[in-house]
Amino acid sequence: MAQPTPARTPHDWWRSAVIYQVYVRSFADGDGDGTGDLAGVRARLPYLAELGVDALWFSPWYQSPMKDGGYDVADYRAIDPAFGTLAEAEKLIAEARELGIRTIVDIVPNHVSDQHPWWRGALAGGAERELFHVRPGRGDHGELPPNDWTSEFGGPAWTRLPDGHWYLHLFAPEQPDLNWAHPAVRQEHEDILRFWFERGVAGVRVDSAALLAKDPRLPDFVEGRDPHPYVDRDELHDVYRSWRAVADEYGGVFVGEVWLPDSERFARYLRPDELHTAFNFSFLTCPWDARRLRTSIDETLAEHAPVGAPATWVLCNHDVTRTVTRYGREDTGFDFATKVFGTPTDLALGTRRARAAALLSLALPGAVYLYQGEELGLPEAEIPRDRIQDPMHFRSGGTDPGRDGCRVPLPWTAEAPYAGFGSREEPWLPQPAHWAAYAADLQTEDPGSMLSLYRAAIRVRRVTPGFGDGPLTWLPSADGVLAFARTEGLVCVVNLADTPAELDGASRLLLTSGPLDDRGRLPQDTAAWLLG
Ligand code: NOJ
Repeated sequence: MAQPTPARTPHDWWRSAVIYQVYVRSFADGDGDGTGDLAGVRARLPYLAELGVDALWFSPWYQSPMKDGGYDVADYRAIDPAFGTLAEAEKLIAEARELGIRTIVDIVPNHVSDQHPWWRGALAGGAERELFHVRPGRGDHGELPPNDWTSEFGGPAWTRLPDGHWYLHLFAPEQPDLNWAHPAVRQEHEDILRFWFERGVAGVRVDSAALLAKDPRLPDFVEGRDPHPYVDRDELHDVYRSWRAVADEYGGVFVGEVWLPDSERFARYLRPDELHTAFNFSFLTCPWDARRLRTSIDETLAEHAPVGAPATWVLCNHDVTRTVTRYGREDTGFDFATKVFGTPTDLALGTRRARAAALLSLALPGAVYLYQGEELGLPEAEIPRDRIQDPMHFRSGGTDPGRDGCRVPLPWTAEAPYAGFGSREEPWLPQPAHWAAYAADLQTEDPGSMLSLYRAAIRVRRVTPGFGDGPLTWLPSADGVLAFARTEGLVCVVNLADTPAELDGASRLLLTSGPLDDRGRLPQDTAAWLLG
């Protein structure tokens, strides 16, 4: 039975936390209907406590028609009936807290579902139209969209209504964009934040955080013109300053989904009176290459330092190719634009690198995000085309495999039906034939498994001084080797070169991601933690 873990630092826990992302639909199916649910999560809380994570981030669990996996929210104050009830969510938040695990919810402020009452009102011609971007079209008969913006999922960002007007959706047509210039939109979101903070959540992830504000003139997009008509507009910071004031009343924290190439612009979101943290997509998209990783780490630390925010380290999430697969390919970086079906993958190589990357991320200064199944070393699955559900696939005209391959229901028990994910009904996405080999019960018994590595690493990270937020100093090292010191004598060495790396013989070995060679050296694609 898992022991309750004491919360490590009451106020600034988030500066050094290990945060586990739960994609509820695919985590564990408590009622056997093929869809993951809150009952499934509650039953697995001891597993999460044993893993040693400090917090759970739940991808949207609200009432939703699931046209975009729950990122199309119909009611921000209700749990989707397929997942459970609000009362169950409250119990889950309390039970997790008793095990020392905090809860982070996911707020989707850029858009709502087309089933949200506001959009229904807007469609019926009500005053709610002002809460969205509804405009007449261009052309002699309004037959052309109001501007040339394209959806993040491909295709035009505008859809025509039966009355001839057009509405803006930066994602799927079932996700109309809200008009953030309207005070009611701001008020509603502050109320939603309070609603969840009052239910005991410790933090909020902000979906598409840099996209909310639009140029009110809705001009065509012109490459290179500043400011961008809808990405990273200055008005946004005022929104986040008022959110921060709400969060401060409850001691809550934010993590922003801010995809921005410009590090100075990115850091603005992390000023002391705005969001506390943001996901590190530079690290997530970085190829497995020592020089490029070092640059990404240096740039990350340099951009966070002036605003005093801790960095986050992220290797994957529910939108991107799973880590062991990405690192097992010729192109080890990540880019939405280059995803295709049937990319050759060496999973043994990818897994070795992902193990080393796990120790690297957990040794870097700041917080670490872990996506469900990453601790099991799950690969990206190829979903049969007739079972794909992700709108990204359909809106690409069927060329992009979409994101379902990283959302396949988890394997828990090798010998059970559906690898223990559920019971009666087949899971909502098919599990590949070899899935049971990754089951958590098998990995628990195997000291060489990915799960055993993550458990050991998170435990060592928790009990050893020097991990988490704080300084990092690069140590002299051979080409292709990353070596850095933290405080308290802690050292991390990652060897990406094809020659073995010498380790300091005077240091004590805390943990390695794979065996050393017979001369005690660190082989290629292996990482070690040492105490000097
Ligand atoms: C980012 C989320 O992570 C992704 O899953 C979603 O499709 C878009 N935002 C739209 O909400």
